[in-house]
Amino acid sequence: MTDVHDEVSTVTVTVNGREIRADPGELLIDACERTGTYIPRFCHHSRMNPVGMCRMCLVEVDAGRGPALQPSCMVPVTDGMSVDTESEATKKAQEGVLEFLLINHPLDCPVCDKGGECPLQDQTMAYGPGETRFVEEKRHFEKPIPISDLVYLDRERCILCDRCTRFADEVAGDPLIHFMDRGNNTQVNTFPDEPFASYFSGNTVQICPVGALTATPYRFKARPWDLEETVSTAWTDSMGSRIAVQSSRNRVLRLLGIDADPVNWGWLSDKERFSF
Ligand code: SF4
Ligand code: FES
Repeated sequence: MTDVHDEVSTVTVTVNGREIRADPGELLIDACERTGTYIPRFCHHSRMNPVGMCRMCLVEVDAGRGPALQPSCMVPVTDGMSVDTESEATKKAQEGVLEFLLINHPLDCPVCDKGGECPLQDQTMAYGPGETRFVEEKRHFEKPIPISDLVYLDRERCILCDRCTRFADEVAGDPLIHFMDRGNNTQVNTFPDEPFASYFSGNTVQICPVGALTATPYRFKARPWDLEETVSTAWTDSMGSRIAVQSSRNRVLRLLGIDADPVNWGWLSDKERFSF
């Protein structure tokens, strides 16, 4: 068996003083994660094209011209590259990005359906500044609004990461959810009279890194720490997709897709996801 990371076909990168080997072209964020160094992220998803929307993955990269902050989800590794994911500059940048993201995001995790399983909440605790200097009014939208029979949208919680919109366009092929308006008024939404009528809409709820998209059948039914989970195989699709069956008090409350490389990559059809 050949080693996919053998010395001939790979490049050497130094991450926090430790040498790792990576395939040429592999994204820095993925190479670091594969070798044990997690870089925080919101927009990056290994099954979709990188877009560099959120800047949470900024790290100090030296590719031969001196260290500079670069978004690691947009930078392919090159031989001799040196990366510092824990430097003062990196920490300050990550704190700054979180402080900016929280300018408009409500600070009401205890009443948010995503609380306890929210990447924004977790990464704010791990990498955030601890307090905000923003005292002005946050922006407001009518909320939550149903964008289909299965999905509710809370635009105040959205951090404009482009995950749902990319999924709908790139993966499902149903570009029915979009960014609208510009600058501080940018919002994610569906067009009037065009509901989010995709057979795969539930995947956007699963990959949304905040509580902006929630599934009607699950909203406020449970907290994640109350759920028991059993890994299983999808029963209504013909692919044998991997799923996590989550239940509480002997009632199934939610099905999530699991990323199984030969099968469903974490995606599920709505027919499967909401089949119980
Ligand atoms: S709704 Fe969620 S997934 Fe979509 S852009 Fe906003 S934060 Fe990202
Ligand atoms: S994860 Fe890299 S810019 Fe969002």
